[in-house]
Amino acid sequence: MSLTGAGKIAGVVGWPIRHSLSPLLHGYWLDELKVDGALVPLAIPREDFARTVLALRRAGFTGVNVTVPHKEAAFALADVTDAAAEMAGAANLLIFHADGRIEGRNTDTVGLRESLRENMESLKGKTVVLLGAGGAARGGLLALDALNAGRIHLLNRSPGKAAQLAMALKTAVKSDIQPGALEDWANVAGHADLIVNSTSAGMKGQPPLDLDLALLRKDAVVLDIVYNPLETPLLKTAKARGLKTIDGLGMLMHQAAPSFEAFFGVRPKVTPGLRAHLEKALHA
Ligand code: ATR
Repeated sequence: MSLTGAGKIAGVVGWPIRHSLSPLLHGYWLDELKVDGALVPLAIPREDFARTVLALRRAGFTGVNVTVPHKEAAFALADVTDAAAEMAGAANLLIFHADGRIEGRNTDTVGLRESLRENMESLKGKTVVLLGAGGAARGGLLALDALNAGRIHLLNRSPGKAAQLAMALKTAVKSDIQPGALEDWANVAGHADLIVNSTSAGMKGQPPLDLDLALLRKDAVVLDIVYNPLETPLLKTAKARGLKTIDGLGMLMHQAAPSFEAFFGVRPKVTPGLRAHLEKALHA
């Protein structure tokens, strides 16, 4: 990195932040595109979020990426928000404009949409099983709807949350959302063209999902948004059964591209080189 006094500075704000791949990801693009700038990791506890962000704006930052647990607070803090942030009630990108306005966007939906677009044939009219009913599932529903999925079985450990989320997005989403419990897996798995795990199960230190993948069709595709580890137990089992799998790195890289453009003024590319760079870090 070579940074001058005129460099553009952005941040990534979360609690904790140690495991964030954003500095590495943006760092790769900064080097590749020879941009005079930096993206710094900032560990900020919940109670300090708003005042820290306002101070960063004052200090001349171009913006911040926002991660757990601040995405709802970021949405509340923004002066203007895009449709994706409105629908999600959460923002993962805050852009500090020269006139003082803070713009909140949600690029998580874009990340999943672009990763699916890159790795799969059209989802138009297809059947999807979406696992989970948290913030990530909400973004998932919007991405799947943007790709014109026909039916989405939204299965969650706590089925009440799936029903609530389905109700909340009913009018905003064209796809037919069918909420249910993980126990409904046996009834829906055989119809699925795509499985998307948006739960945190299978993440390092978390137990994996207990689903019988033998019930899936041979042409079903399995996507996990978890990227640590890159090969989750779900993806490993799916691969062993000969199914096509999509890991969480694609989504991560694609959600970062609009942020980079907003912070540094250049549109970066998602390339195999970037993937290799991130894979190396994840394996280290
Ligand atoms: P995020 O915003 O990342 O989606 P979240 O709102 O905490 O995070 O949601 C986590 C999701 O993972 C939830 O759907 C949760 O299920 P519950 O609503 O029943 O809590 C799901 N989840 C977490 N651990 C799980 C596990 N071991 N098995 C199944 N689902 C799990």
